[in-house]
This record gives sequence, C-alpha cells and structure tokens, in this order.
Amino acid sequence: MEKDTVTIKVNSTGKQADFPLLKGTHGNPAVEISSLNKELGIFTYDPGFMATASCKSSITYIDGENGILLYRGYPIDQLAKNSSFLEVAYLLMNGDLPSRQELGAFVNEINQHAMLHEALRGFFDGFHYDAHPMAMMVGVVGSLSAFYHSELDMNDPEHRRISAMRMLAKIPTIAAASYRHSVGWPYVYPRQDLEYCENFLNMMFSLPSQKYIDEAHYIDPAAVKALNLLFILHADHEQNASTSTVRLASSTGANPYACIAAGISALWGPAHGGANEAVLSMLDEIGSADNIPKFIAKAKDKNDPFRLMGFGHRVYKNFDPRATIIRETCHEILEKFSSDDEPLFELALALEEYALKDEYFIEKKLYPNVDFYSGIIYKALKIPVDMFTVMFVIARTAGWVSHWLEMMAEPTHRIGRPRQIYTGLSARDYVEIAERK
Ligand code: ACO
Repeated sequence: MEKDTVTIKVNSTGKQADFPLLKGTHGNPAVEISSLNKELGIFTYDPGFMATASCKSSITYIDGENGILLYRGYPIDQLAKNSSFLEVAYLLMNGDLPSRQELGAFVNEINQHAMLHEALRGFFDGFHYDAHPMAMMVGVVGSLSAFYHSELDMNDPEHRRISAMRMLAKIPTIAAASYRHSVGWPYVYPRQDLEYCENFLNMMFSLPSQKYIDEAHYIDPAAVKALNLLFILHADHEQNASTSTVRLASSTGANPYACIAAGISALWGPAHGGANEAVLSMLDEIGSADNIPKFIAKAKDKNDPFRLMGFGHRVYKNFDPRATIIRETCHEILEKFSSDDEPLFELALALEEYALKDEYFIEKKLYPNVDFYSGIIYKALKIPVDMFTVMFVIARTAGWVSHWLEMMAEPTHRIGRPRQIYTGLSARDYVEIAERK
C-alpha cells in the first residue's frame, strides 16, 4: 500500500515538499515534519501543542470526542470496576495485566522499597511548619537521587526498573510525611501487611498515642476502595503537561528522580493537578446556590480572569469518562462518610446542572472534568485540601514512571528542544552605562 503523505507548499517561494503521514493503531494521523526546516527553511508554530504529537507511545489512548480512555487497551471503566491501583500500575509499566504470581512479586517489591532513608526523613525538618506539601514533594522527591548513586545507570534496564519501583513505592511515604510535618505529628513507617492505599491511610492518620483505637477507624474499606478508584482514574493520561515535562526533562538524560520532581512541579498548577484544590476553594467562594448565576456570568466575562474550576479539558470535548465514573462514587462516599459535606456536594451538583444548560458552556463544549468531583471525595475522606494535588501525584507517578521507562527503552531518543518565532530586536551595539539614557 502506498504510504500517505502531506504536501506543504510555501506560497512566497513556490518551494514544496512531501512529508510522511504517520498512523498509530487509533486516533488521528500526524504529519512527520522533522525535515521541514531542512527542506523548506520553515518551522511549525503551535503554542500549547494544540495539534502536535510529541512522541509515539503505546501506554494510553484517549478519544476526546467520544469520551474513551484506554490503559494498554483496557477501558478505564473496566479497570475502575475490577482492578486495584497497584495492578493498574503494573499494567501501565509492563504492558499487560499481571498473573497472580507476577502481581504478588510486584506488590512485595513495592513493600520492600516503601521505607525512606532516615537521612531523607530528616529533610522534612528543614521545612517551615506551614510549607505547602507540594513544595515538600518537589524538594524531597528531587533529593532521592542523592541516595541511589549506585543504581543510576540509565542504560541499564535493571537500574531503570528499580528506579521506577522505588519511585512508586516511596511516593505515598513521602506524601504522608509531608502532611505529618505540616501538623507536627510523628512520621509513621510504612507497613508491609497493609495494601497500598490502606498503608497510605495508616501513614496519614494513625497516632502512636492512640494504639487503642481500632485501625478500622482510619482504614475503612470504603475509603480504601475510593482511594484505589481515584488513583486508577488519575494514573495516566498520555501526554498531559506533567507527563510531557517528565519526558522533556528525561530527554536530557537527567536522573529519574529529578525528572519526576519536574513532573510534580508541572502538576502543581491550577490548570492541571491543582484544579481539585481550586474546585473546593471556588465552591467555598460561591457559598450557596443563589450565587451560581453571578459566578457563571464571571466565568463567561472575557474581562474577568475567573474560570469555572473543574470544567473544560484540552482533549475531552464531550464528556470526561473519569468524571462519569467518579460522580457515582461521590454519592456513595458522601452517604457513608459525611453529612457535613452534603451541602457542598449539593452546591457542586447545582453548579454542574446550571453550567451544562448554559449556552456558553454548551457551545464551547465545557463539561465537568475528573477534578470537579475528586476534591469533594477527598474532603469527605478527611484528606486536607492542600493535600489534594499530592494525592494526584501519588496516582500519576504510575503514569510518569511508565512513560519514562517507555522513553528510556527506545534505542534512540533526542533531547527535546523546540524552536521559536523570535519577536525581539535586531542586533544592536552595546552602550556604555554612562551613555545610556
Ligand atoms: N471556565 C470558563 N471558560 C472556560 C473554561 C472554564 N473552566 N475553560 C475554558 N474556557 C473557555 C476559554 O475562555 C476559551 O474561550 P474563548 O475561545 O472564547 O477564548 C475556550 O473556553 C477554550 O479554552 P482554552 O483555555 O483555550 O482551552 P484549553 O484546552 O487550552 O484549556 C483547560 C483546557 C486548561 C482545562 C481549561 O478548560 C481550564 O482552565 N479549566 C479550568 C481548570 C481545570 O479544571 N483544570 C483541570 C484539567 S483536568 C486535569 O488536569 C486532570
């Protein structure tokens, strides 16, 4: 079969060239333009990567028009219903669902790497008590590279695998420690007899002075189920801003811990992982259903920077399949855990209903995304608001390390180095300071 090509012609010079059209197994094809500058002396301009595929990947597929999300081919709703977070992490990292034995070995290894070096735990003491936990995450995760010099040969597949496992295993321990530091509680060591999410809840909420309290109090099966679900839904989302950041940092050959720290920084922003925290602040600000029309009007006003947090998505333009799944869980969790948060949830639903009927939101295809609901669930589980993005970090680490493993296993990879359209001044001569106006 003849390969499809795209012809690009520069009208001013009359020069033209053909470029190959690359096709994946699903999704839109992409024109391969790496020789564009050589052939025609031009670059492409696509700020925000609106129409640019930055790599080939076989991990996650998203069909934004039809609200489809597949991890390694498995629909997200099937994984959400049947799987656990660690099983999904295995799937993302290795390409297939594990056998019982493979899963057992994977879980064991994660358990073994879950402890932090005591010297690393000391890093937390350097932070002020009111430091944002995301600031601690960036710093402490980046510092991990200082502890594992001997296994940082990125050309060695076994070193890469161990680094990825360490990252996944230690991230809940670091996350819980960042919370404990902020409240002044003693750090809790990870426990091998607990499942990943159970262990996280234990490291967050158990107190040595309250050994008499049944641990079922803070490791409730419904909370564990909800956490597993949220972590599965957030585990990967192909080339989003933080994953692309991890890939870009990795393209320089930087160590994996530094690359994941870069991803954590990118996730922190309110347009990305910070959205679930921003949703809660927004609901607080709205206060009651009567104020909804006023805030919707603000969101539509081009002169007002206010946006409806938890609405809209770069890729999903009809619905976010993760939001559909999580919406149901939100009801269940609120019924079980918290009557206090019921008005908040009612307000969220009223806002959702109002926005979905509004012409502006319909026309621009702005629908609630996963983070519209995740913050409300975390709040009901008594996770503090400034830990919401940290929760996202724990989940997305599975995706980040999978993309990192995929990229590092490629026989050749180039440093990521975009070009620009220069809009500054032409060359001019240096002026001595005494002569400047
Ligand atoms: N409220 C009001 N208007 C909005 C919103 C919103 N939440 N989102 C987009 N719009 C409008 C924009 O003003 C723009 O209008 P225009 O065409 O008249 O200029 C249009 O819709 C398109 O918006 P863009 O910003 O160009 O869309 P983009 O794909 O770049 O942004 C994003 C997507 C960042 C998610 C955006 O919708 C947003 O800021 N949402 C709120 C933050 C949020 O919920 N982020 C979480 C994303 S999901 C995640 O990270 C897991």
